[in-house]
Amino acid sequence: MKTEVLAAQAPETAQRAAEILLAGGLVAIPTETVYGLGANALDEVAVSKIFAAKGRPQDNPLIIHIAETKELERYCHHIPQAAYCLAERFWPGPLTMVLPCRQIVPAKTTAGLETVAVRCPETEITREIIRLAGVPIAAPSANLSGKPSTTTAEHVLYDLDGKIEAIVDDGPSRVGVESTIVDLTQERPRLLRPGGITPEALRETLGDLVVDPAVLGNLPPNAVVRAPGMKYKHYAPQADVLIVTGNSENAAAYVRRHFQPGNAVLCFEEELSLYEGMNPHSYGSREDEASLTHSLFAVLRELDQKEIGTIFARCPEGGGLAYAVQNRLKKAAGFHIVSGEET
Ligand code: TXA
Ligand code: MG
Repeated sequence: MKTEVLAAQAPETAQRAAEILLAGGLVAIPTETVYGLGANALDEVAVSKIFAAKGRPQDNPLIIHIAETKELERYCHHIPQAAYCLAERFWPGPLTMVLPCRQIVPAKTTAGLETVAVRCPETEITREIIRLAGVPIAAPSANLSGKPSTTTAEHVLYDLDGKIEAIVDDGPSRVGVESTIVDLTQERPRLLRPGGITPEALRETLGDLVVDPAVLGNLPPNAVVRAPGMKYKHYAPQADVLIVTGNSENAAAYVRRHFQPGNAVLCFEEELSLYEGMNPHSYGSREDEASLTHSLFAVLRELDQKEIGTIFARCPEGGGLAYAVQNRLKKAAGFHIVSGEET
C-alpha cells in the first residue's frame, strides 16, 4: 500500500482523511501530545487493523478521540461531575478520562473492558476530521509496539510507511509525551499515566487523586494493572538505557568511569560540556521541563539510528512535567537506575 502524506494546511486534507476513515482505513493523525494511528472507533474491522499495523497486543485498549465535550454522553454513561470539571478546564488538551462505556463502542476498541478512555485533542485539524467523519477516532500512539512514540510525520513514516492509508502532517507535536490518563470509574480518581496535564493541576480541580503504583514502580510479573498498556516494556529504544541520578558533577564522574566506546549520554543542555567526548545528546533544559517532554522521544529515536550499546540518561526530579519524563525514562530504562554517588 502507498501511504498518502496529507499536509494539515491543505484545504482538502480533513475531508480526505475523514473519507479514508469512514471507508475503514487507517490514518495517522497529529495531536498536541504525539501522533496517533487512527481508525473509526465504531468499526471493529478497522480497529483490528490498528493492532495488526502496530503489532499491538490485543488486550491493550485504545483511546477514543472526540471533537467536543458534549459527545462524551454518546460513548459513556454514569459520567461524574468531576469529568465535566476536568473537561471544562483541560479540554481540548492532553488529558484522557476513563469512564463507563456504552454498548455502541465495540469490544475491539476497549479490549472487552466495561470502561473506555476518551480524549478531546487540542489539534484543530484532527478535531475537524472527527467532525467531518461523524465518528470518534480510536488512536494509540503511531509507533510500532514497544518503540518510542512518534512526534513527527517522519517518525510515523519510519515505523508505518506502506502499512497505513495516509498520514496528516502537522509538524512536530507540541507536548511530546502521551496524554495524562485519569480513571474516574473508581471511588477516588486515579492517575494511570502522567503526561502534559500535571498531577498538581489535576488535584486543584479534583481535590483528590490517587497515583496508581504502576506509574513509577517496576511492576512484578502478573501484576493486575488498570491501564493494560502499562505492563508492557514501553517507550524503549534498541540501546540499553541506564538512568544516572545525583548532582551533575557526581553523575558525570560516574559516567566517565563507566563509559565505553559506542555508548552515548542523554542529558540536560546545561550538562553538555561535562560529557565532552562521550557522545552527549541534550533533550532540553533542566530549567524548562516542557522542553524535556517535547524532545525526549525524538532524541531517543535519533539515538536508535546510531546503534548505541548503552545510553546513560539524566532524568529531572520532582513533580510537574518532570513526573511524566520520569515515568517514560524509567520505562525506557526497564527501571535500571544507578546513583551517581556510587563507584
Ligand atoms: O496522547 C495520547 O494519549 C496518545 C494520542 C494519540 O492521543 N495516545 C496514546 O495511546 O498514547 P496509547 O494506546 O499508546 O496509550 C493508551 C493507554 C494504554 O496504556 C492503554 O492500556 C490505556 O491507555 N487505556 C486505554 N483504555 C483504557 C481503559 N478503558 N482503562 C484503562 N486504561 C486504558
Ligand atoms: Mg503508545
